[in-house]
Amino acid sequence: MSKAPLVLGVMMWEKAMSIDRSTADSVGSGHVRDVLLLGAAGNSGRAIAAELAAHGLSLRLAGRRRGPLEDLARALTAGGTKADVRTIDLGDAGSLAEAFLGVGVVLSTVGPFARQATPVIEACLALGVSYVDIANEWLAVRGLLDRDEQARAHQVTLVTGAGFGPAATETLVLRLVEHMGVVPVRVRVAAAAGVASQGEGVRQTVQEALGEGAITYRDGQVIRETLGSGATTLTFGGVERQVLPGPVGDLETARLASGAANVVAYIPNPTAHRGGLDSWTWAEAVGPDGRTVTAELRAGEGVQATAAIAAETARRVLAGAAPGAWTAGQLFGAALVTDATNAQVTMNQEPA
Ligand SMILES: NC(=O)c1ccc[n+]([C@@H]2O[C@H](COP(=O)([O-])OP(=O)(O)OC[C@H]3O[C@@H](n4cnc5c(N)ncnc54)[C@H](OP(=O)(O)O)[C@@H]3O)[C@@H](O)[C@H]2O)c1
Repeated sequence: MSKAPLVLGVMMWEKAMSIDRSTADSVGSGHVRDVLLLGAAGNSGRAIAAELAAHGLSLRLAGRRRGPLEDLARALTAGGTKADVRTIDLGDAGSLAEAFLGVGVVLSTVGPFARQATPVIEACLALGVSYVDIANEWLAVRGLLDRDEQARAHQVTLVTGAGFGPAATETLVLRLVEHMGVVPVRVRVAAAAGVASQGEGVRQTVQEALGEGAITYRDGQVIRETLGSGATTLTFGGVERQVLPGPVGDLETARLASGAANVVAYIPNPTAHRGGLDSWTWAEAVGPDGRTVTAELRAGEGVQATAAIAAETARRVLAGAAPGAWTAGQLFGAALVTDATNAQVTMNQEPA
């Protein structure tokens, strides 16, 4: 394929965003950073920054408010990490341009991703920078995966759902399918995170995503129903839980990991009491002969689990990954989550 349309696309984007290539080319080595972390001072962002720093990566910390970013940069720098700060607003694409110069990969924690991810992905494609996010909304995960052709054309790696929810159910489905050795006819997954603190981003994202209602796959078709349809009770992590089919990214990761035509991804009933700091995922696959296999994963505190998965994904993308639009498990396999965290997996209640 001719590269001319791509080059033209980059030039048009740079013109629109007022990027001066001479500035880009003159970025000094002191300003080159491994990871541009968007939303760095947020609840997930701070935990991810610590994980990235523990991997020895250099960081550019970005968000709208300079104060919290500078506090974080000071703390990281004191620990020996190279870190600098950029104030950006995803609503102002022009403010993104300079922040992207000289970075190896962009890791975004700014949700709701269904409406916040587009300008970031567009900039990554235009500038040839790889991208990782922790989206957990079905719309956002599906939307990014639909950009596979564009990502390959631009030679960029895009990874979505690199957080506890989608990635930690995906790892179970990949293991169940490998264990069964056939494409299951039905897959169900559920995630229940126990978190020490919850950010405003999560609250807003859950509120907006639930407006999509219950989304499932039936006979390969997307089915949309009123939230609460298909509610049931599942027992995992030793606890009986009221759950509802939800419009979550896990639905897409479970479908792609299994190839099943019938897929449900459950969320805890938002009105039910939640407690504890342990995070669990559960998955069930039913084979063509009716044989059912289940698996569970225990991952400890949820924000920490997301941080470890996201940081490990970004580290591997930085080390070199195939262009295209991917889920974390598609790109790095079932072991990613257990390599990144101390998660324990059981299959049919036996250690796996
Ligand atoms: N996949 C998973 O399992 C998983 C796990 C955890 C979280 N998440 C998702 O991650 C997202 C973030 O959650 P969180 O709890 O970390 O939220 P948070 O604590 O509110 O942090 C969000 C950060 O983004 C920055 N921000 C917000 N709007 C921005 C904008 N327009 N431009 C630039 N920066 C902006 C905020 O800083 P300023 O206000 O200073 O800009 C803040 O630092 C949510 O969508 C959540 O659903 C997914």
